Amino acid sequence: MAHYYQRAEIQAVADFVGDSLALAQQAQKTDADIIVMCGVHFMAETAAILCPNKKVLIPDASAGCSLADSCQAADLQAWKKEHPDHLVVSYVNTSAAVKALSDIVVTSGNALKIVNRLPEDAKILFGPDRNLGRYINEQTGRNMDLWNGCCHVHDRFSQEHLAELKKQYPDALVLAHPECRKQIVEQSDVVGSTAVLIKYVQEHPQNKYIVMTADGVDYEIYKSCPHVQLIATENACEYMHLHTLEKLFACVQNESPIVSVAPEMAMQALKPIQKMLDWSK
Ligand code: 13P
Ligand code: SF4
Repeated sequence: MAHYYQRAEIQAVADFVGDSLALAQQAQKTDADIIVMCGVHFMAETAAILCPNKKVLIPDASAGCSLADSCQAADLQAWKKEHPDHLVVSYVNTSAAVKALSDIVVTSGNALKIVNRLPEDAKILFGPDRNLGRYINEQTGRNMDLWNGCCHVHDRFSQEHLAELKKQYPDALVLAHPECRKQIVEQSDVVGSTAVLIKYVQEHPQNKYIVMTADGVDYEIYKSCPHVQLIATENACEYMHLHTLEKLFACVQNESPIVSVAPEMAMQALKPIQKMLDWSK
């Protein structure tokens, strides 16, 4: 299984390619005994939590996520203690330990739908992505308290660079992931998860697009729309790019490295993940 930010050659050999939500859904669905997760560590952990009887492998065990790292479980625990009457909504880009402390998990593909379903008067702590949290607040009219974390890849897209690209390509539409800053999201025509952005292009291949998300989504787009014009920002997630074909080959051969979650923590983390999957149907 591979995420859309993987190198093209990894996506080419994967049995399934998707966004974070689809990868979790597919992990739960597959009858394979072994899942090789070509994505970052939290994606493999989520698969391991959902599939306690399967072996979950990752080609490079050091493929972390700056956003997930920005929220440690002990710090979330302390934040919860200060706000005992709040629900905890966590982005899927978090460790299993953080998920185990959460009431519900969201991805960028289902966050609006899920937050809209929470009681209107619910007090909510949201983490760790301040950009996604702000976007959810704006779109839902909620007033969630936000953790001050971000993804170093999406947070570095600059307003100035986007303005330059728009000047150069005045007829192009802008696609942005909600992990981008407010100034970028406000200047964008389509905002959504990697799967949402890809689908939009596939359904409207006649347009030109400026792509404000990490590299890799172009591979899936060009497969179905080889003539579409994409203006890429060349901003790869270096964690995602740690996986190579060589490492994938060794991982399959050796059935290692394995990603596992301690059973007690997995049981706790499964509850908010399963709730998310149920509410996404
Ligand atoms: P998606 O859920 O949109 O695939 O995003 C995952 C991610 O890590 C974005 O940086
Ligand atoms: Fe994490 Fe950012 Fe990489 Fe996504 S792009 S996996 S949020 S570091």
